[in-house]
Amino acid sequence: MNYFESCQRQAEALQKKEHVRILAIESSCDETAAAVIEDGRKILSNAVFTQIDLHALYGGVVPEIASRAHVEKVDLMVDQALKDAGMELKDVDAIAVTYGPGLVGALLIGVSCAKALAFATGKPLVPVNHIEGHICANFLTHADLKPPFACLVVSGGHSHLFSVEDYGVFRIIGQTQDDAAGEAFDKAARVLNIPYPGGPLLDKLAETGDAYALKLPRPKTEGRYDYSFSGLKTAFINAVHNARQKGEALNDADLAASFRAAVVSFLVDKAMLAADELNLKKMALAGGVSANSLLRREMEAACQKRSIQLYMPRLNLCGDNAAMIGSAAYYHLMRGEIADLTLNAKPALRLSKK
Ligand code: KG4
Ligand code: ZN
Repeated sequence: MNYFESCQRQAEALQKKEHVRILAIESSCDETAAAVIEDGRKILSNAVFTQIDLHALYGGVVPEIASRAHVEKVDLMVDQALKDAGMELKDVDAIAVTYGPGLVGALLIGVSCAKALAFATGKPLVPVNHIEGHICANFLTHADLKPPFACLVVSGGHSHLFSVEDYGVFRIIGQTQDDAAGEAFDKAARVLNIPYPGGPLLDKLAETGDAYALKLPRPKTEGRYDYSFSGLKTAFINAVHNARQKGEALNDADLAASFRAAVVSFLVDKAMLAADELNLKKMALAGGVSANSLLRREMEAACQKRSIQLYMPRLNLCGDNAAMIGSAAYYHLMRGEIADLTLNAKPALRLSKK
């Protein structure tokens, strides 16, 4: 029996095992992370090394620097995750890894590490889509959450409204036509001289500002439930530059508050339009931007008004981590969806109905 056949048998046997523990690895962007997850729902450990300090100097993620840092840290994070879970490599049932979307060089480090660990231990290898991982961060926060539900995924690279029809089965309801919400936050923050990644600091600054100080346009989209942030970002940058050229004093907190309010109301209004028209009763938030304090407040208010049950990931699970990858992997492993050792990184991997 070869490696893959043996893994297929193991995956079948795992369906009857009382507890299934997965070691997961995430390296798609600027976080090197490893975690051990039990039965898709329980975090036994969650180790994250953030590379933010390495990239802040350049105002954004430098792919080459990210890859090098992943190489240096990935083994350490795996060791840390096992140690924190009180386990050894032989104790885990499978190895999971993010194989896309993301930076190709960064993804390859995690994929190579996971393949090496899987082959060396003879354990099943489970490939996971990063966006699916973000959605599954909600399973680690809410024990009662089960599909079907809708999920607004807002991160640095993605802004999508999904229908989560079953575990691992997704349909796109709406998506951004251009920039992602997180990217727009980061670019707006940059004109306010807020260091990378600007989203969290802009959010904090906005708490003290007047959201009505600067009027920003509401972008038009082709699809009814689609988003667009590029025009909003450009309008904001132009307004700031024009004011500066005229020597007008604009308050940074007011600017941050105005931009945040424009992005958040757009996100919430579209999600609620879909909820009203498609009769959505359960809605989740996911991705780095789901940590935004105004987005969380506004979604809570809008969902409460409509008696929609809202699920949001715990703050430390909103950004990139491997725990969410381990949760997503569990449901794939239980269906026998494992990879052989030809698994490759897929930088433009999409998440939609099979
Ligand atoms: O999900 P994530 O960690 O990485 C990607 O998969 O892209 O998301 C990172 C993004 C960054 O653009 C960051 O600025 C944004 O999430 N972000 C926020 C907040 N926290 C993180 N944006 C707005 N408000 C926040 N509090
Ligand atoms: Zn992410």
